[in-house]
Amino acid sequence: MLQTDVLSVLDDNRGNLVPGGELAHNLGVSRNAIWKAIKSLRLQGNDIDSVPNKGYILDPESDGLSKPLIERRLKTKTIGKSLQVLPSVTSTNLFVQGLPSDEATHGLVVVADGQIAGRGRMGREFLSPLHEGVYLSILLRPHMPFDTLQLITLLSAVSVAKAIESVWSFSPDVKWVNDVLVNKKKLCGILTEASVSSEMQLVDSIVVGIGINTGSVPESLRSIATSTQQVVGKKGQRNNLIAAVLNEFEARYDQLIDSGPQAILEEYRERLSFVGKRVEVVTPTVTYELIISGIDDTGSLIGVDSVGNEVHVRAGEIRLIGDGDHV
Ligand code: BTN
Repeated sequence: MLQTDVLSVLDDNRGNLVPGGELAHNLGVSRNAIWKAIKSLRLQGNDIDSVPNKGYILDPESDGLSKPLIERRLKTKTIGKSLQVLPSVTSTNLFVQGLPSDEATHGLVVVADGQIAGRGRMGREFLSPLHEGVYLSILLRPHMPFDTLQLITLLSAVSVAKAIESVWSFSPDVKWVNDVLVNKKKLCGILTEASVSSEMQLVDSIVVGIGINTGSVPESLRSIATSTQQVVGKKGQRNNLIAAVLNEFEARYDQLIDSGPQAILEEYRERLSFVGKRVEVVTPTVTYELIISGIDDTGSLIGVDSVGNEVHVRAGEIRLIGDGDHV
């Protein structure tokens, strides 16, 4: 498709002028056809400047979501091979869960430019303003034991942290179980939802929902939340980041299936924040006060309570005690 080809050439030359005549010649179409393609690409949110009689430049910070720009960076075999990029949805997780079964195939990824009712953990809302974040859901049909779900959550958090590191060159931490942090502020949240086949206790499908803040953060949330823009001072790179997340995710998912969880657990432990700190761990039934010592091989949090007992917590949320503002 001409628009995709034009965008690919401009993307390869980001920040540099590409003469209209050269584009037309190389793509075997008229200059007028190129101009029409540029107009459509602009409407899709790509910042393309035209310099009269010289050519076109794709702004290095252009940040419009683009299926072709994501696809040309994907190195995966299954994750994201079926990819939907949508302008705005209620929630990408809900969208995937509502798809008919013939469309809901393993590896499907749905990305949205904004969410009207982004869902967070524990029934909370996940603020998802238009153009200001990466909001995506990955569908898996793994037929694996229910216990493995925790490992999927851990590998998702590590994959996001690694993807951010490769795109923006700073190194986020993970907060048990599945928040990605930088400077103790939340940069990304992950909501993993599963349906289980009751006879065998096998997971039938999993939707991994990932929300990364990439743009402005409301003043009222700046003490606890951050974004890639807040950290590096510029916008852009959402397509790159999405592809990097999917590439990192598939590599670790395959590793889990082929060789087990050890490598993922090691990576997670290297990034685990608040080790040695006193935290409150809120679970559906009990609240503990623990000093964090790590995670065990199932992904449960290990902490030591006030009388020195080691406690393993399977599910819950942690809150740092007595350290000013924090997530
Ligand atoms: C949390 O931090 O509580 C989890 C937030 C998860 C947000 C993502 S954004 C994409 C996907 N769709 C949703 O509705 N939620 C997840």
